[in-house]
Amino acid sequence: MKSKLLKIVNIVGARPNLIKIAPLLIAQKKYPTLIKPYLIHTGQHYTYEMSGKIFIDLDLPRPDFHLNIGAGTPLWQIAQIMIAVEKILLKLKPDLLIVVGDVNSTLATSLVASKLHIKIAHVEAGLRSFNCLMPEELNRVLTDQLSDFLFTTDVYAGDNLLKEGIPKNKIFLVGNVMIDTLLRYKKAAQRQKTAVKLGLQDYLLLTLHRPENVDNICKMKNILNILGRLTPPIIWPIHPRTQKMLKNFKLTKTIQKLNNLRLLPPQGYLDFLNLEMNAKLVLTDSGGIQEETTILGVPCLTLRDETERPITVTAGTNHIVSLDKTKIHNLISKYYDSRKKVIAKRPPLWDGKTADRIIKIIIRQLNNA
Ligand code: UD1
Ligand code: UDP
Repeated sequence: MKSKLLKIVNIVGARPNLIKIAPLLIAQKKYPTLIKPYLIHTGQHYTYEMSGKIFIDLDLPRPDFHLNIGAGTPLWQIAQIMIAVEKILLKLKPDLLIVVGDVNSTLATSLVASKLHIKIAHVEAGLRSFNCLMPEELNRVLTDQLSDFLFTTDVYAGDNLLKEGIPKNKIFLVGNVMIDTLLRYKKAAQRQKTAVKLGLQDYLLLTLHRPENVDNICKMKNILNILGRLTPPIIWPIHPRTQKMLKNFKLTKTIQKLNNLRLLPPQGYLDFLNLEMNAKLVLTDSGGIQEETTILGVPCLTLRDETERPITVTAGTNHIVSLDKTKIHNLISKYYDSRKKVIAKRPPLWDGKTADRIIKIIIRQLNNA
């Protein structure tokens, strides 16, 4: 039987989406007679550092459609994306929408596709923090309920989906597309020599952007207090949300007084990866960075009370430390002062071939439909 040309719409909005979609676009391009891919950027992230620079670093194609949504309240953002994307999907009539991760753009576009009876593939399905106050948790649960093909990074995610009543035949354990990108660009990132160019040695790397941390003045003060008491130099590429909140809380001067902190703008993908692989230890509340440090074998302290990525703790280098001063000090003295080597196991299928597996499954499933 002859296979038909599948129209596949790929969605990106926020920085981590770009890193996850990149290998999926490469994999789709391998089948020019079977797949016609389209890329839609919602514009949820829009500044050069958060979007344009990452497009350049990852050699991403220019989006076929840019919705230019920009900043706003979460519901305003979701509503605007829905209105704009409906028009495009009605015109294109694609066979499939591919969404990645758990950001507002993921949920908004999935809702529209679902209402238009367009099939949805969710890449990175099934992650659960079980913290319903986390904005991403609702996005994850709802996107998974709307999806036809749920691609998971590990067995924990599959179990979560089964418990929520998702039929087994919709779930595909395939590995991690963010790690596809890491493995593809690791050597290029090494060649950047970012840490060397910045004159950095024996430093800790910090990223923060979760609302639970940065939108709360008490927590922000607490974090700065903890960081100020640490002796190693701390490099902090600062997320725009965090930058904005520090200004709103009038904490910019407090930061300037902390001599061990060095602030940088959000880094391009290759520069950031270079900083990450050369750091002695990473402090973060990012989701993706917990996974990347696991593969890089760099100790990671997650400044949250839980993680939706438990495999990075059981197999990887991740420690969930909340804002617990004692835990943080003890782990820094273990890994930084005593130079204890970390032992990390690579989670199954985090091998750089996840996107290829996903696209093969999609071709098979859509042609059998
Ligand atoms: C979003 C995602 C989060 C993801 C993070 C990755 C949701 C609910 N949140 O959080 O899951 O981990 O992206 O970085 O989708 N801003 C800029 N320039 C930009 C983008 C944002 O200045 O390019 C500022 C704006 O003031 C904006 C604020 O950052 O209001 C927050 O941006 P938003 O996209 O709403 O959420 P993030 O915190 O970035
Ligand atoms: N990243 C980047 N520049 C930075 C900080 C992070 O390119 O200054 C990359 C990082 O390597 C990872 C991704 O962005 O691939 C993580 O995105 P983020 O922390 O914004 O979102 P999350 O993963 O928490 O959703």
